[in-house]
Amino acid sequence: MRIAQIFASRSLDIEPFLWRTIESEQKRFLEEVHNYPEDDLLAAMQAHLIYIIMCVVGEAKHSQNWNQTILLTFEALCDQLKRMQFEPFYRDESINPSLSWDDWRSAESRRRTACVWFLMSRIVAVKSHSHYCTITDNFRMLPLPAPKAQWEAQSEIAWAQALEAGHPNMSTIGHLLDAHQLPTNLYNILGAGELSRLDTHPVELLVTLRTIREALPQGPQRIADVGGGPGKYAFALADQGHLVDLVDLSPGLIQIAQFEQDKRDAAGETNVLQSLAVGNALDPDILQHGIYDAVLLLGPLYHLVEESERVNAVANAARLAKPNGVLFVAFVSISAHLRDIAMRDPSRLIAEKEFYTKYLQDGRYEKFKPGVGNVHSFHTQVSDIRSFFAENFADTLELMELRSQEGILGGSLDTALSKSEPQVVKAWADLMYEKYSTGEEHLGCADHLIAVLKKRDL
Ligand SMILES: C[S@@+](CC[C@H](N)C(=O)[O-])C[C@H]1O[C@@H](n2cnc3c(N)ncnc32)[C@H](O)[C@@H]1O
Repeated sequence: MRIAQIFASRSLDIEPFLWRTIESEQKRFLEEVHNYPEDDLLAAMQAHLIYIIMCVVGEAKHSQNWNQTILLTFEALCDQLKRMQFEPFYRDESINPSLSWDDWRSAESRRRTACVWFLMSRIVAVKSHSHYCTITDNFRMLPLPAPKAQWEAQSEIAWAQALEAGHPNMSTIGHLLDAHQLPTNLYNILGAGELSRLDTHPVELLVTLRTIREALPQGPQRIADVGGGPGKYAFALADQGHLVDLVDLSPGLIQIAQFEQDKRDAAGETNVLQSLAVGNALDPDILQHGIYDAVLLLGPLYHLVEESERVNAVANAARLAKPNGVLFVAFVSISAHLRDIAMRDPSRLIAEKEFYTKYLQDGRYEKFKPGVGNVHSFHTQVSDIRSFFAENFADTLELMELRSQEGILGGSLDTALSKSEPQVVKAWADLMYEKYSTGEEHLGCADHLIAVLKKRDL
């Protein structure tokens, strides 16, 4: 730590002293390594990795001897590691969860060291007794570091809370690599997470289902769910006797829906979907035109950052509907994102000032997110939704209502209800639907806003 501090504030005249100190540290380590207990060995590995990084960052030009010492140290570490046989060096938390905070910190420290070691070995490959000095033979299984909130927790309680707040969907280097191969399809990565999303937003689910139910006539209706993901709404509507066709851009999510469909089929249930397929809301021929009593577009507009694309997606959805058919079109609000960062990471508002100045004007959230890839999202607000329909669809669609899908429980406030009894959740959802989801003063509380539109009979 002390050496790292000197390195960070080094001046030209102190450099020779700094490198000499590191060199002698490494020599001492080489002499003593065979006597190190496990914890000291881990600390030595961490120090060694930091020294190598310092060498590279500091562009230090060393003698041949010095470079030799670095390689010998690497080799000695590798040998010692194998000899101590505490394989695997790292432990996957999802398979072997830690029993206490201390236990977790020690396991996480190893996981982090293993990750850095793996990355370093992409640059420096050292052979020891004819084996390459690798931390694992299957790097795809190497766990990724835990989220910052868990690692930097200042107390056991804060750590437990961060753990409870959840794990990322991606936990290994293998997941990360797959994600980078599918940068445009965030939902392939979210997979099962998207399936359970509405379980943690029970009010959003029930208010939306009631919105659909109240806007449709009694009896089975033909419904197209475009961008329906894993089919949470599609299956719920099939359970109510409707005839639903599901389409989504993400093959991963359609696969999850297919799994549910097969399960229902195998059980001989009749509440199955009429069809499910991969498809793009921007494709005008995504499904048959003019035959649907209702078309759901509850997701694609969250990701279409160009207004012309959003217009196309709504126009395509309108083509699918019968005259007088109903469209349900959802949007994400800018306030949802602001509430989210205010709770999770408030410093971003100033740390990313330029980004947020622009975002607050145009609602385009376009970023590279480590572990996810390129994210393209679009967020908006009530007045802009009204003008979007007035300017582009006044002749073809009539805006019947605009509703907050969470009522006043946006900002994930409805998550607390996910552990409540069903009758409690229903009571809240009914209250939100009846009193707190359409008033102008309540729309600002929405994370998601649903527009209900009737296709004009021209
Ligand atoms: C947040 S999820 C919503 C899923 C579901 N409709 C719901 O409300 O729970 C957004 C969905 O839109 C889908 N999607 C995004 N862009 C799309 C597009 N251009 N065409 C079809 N689906 C799209 C995604 O794959 C994802 O399943």
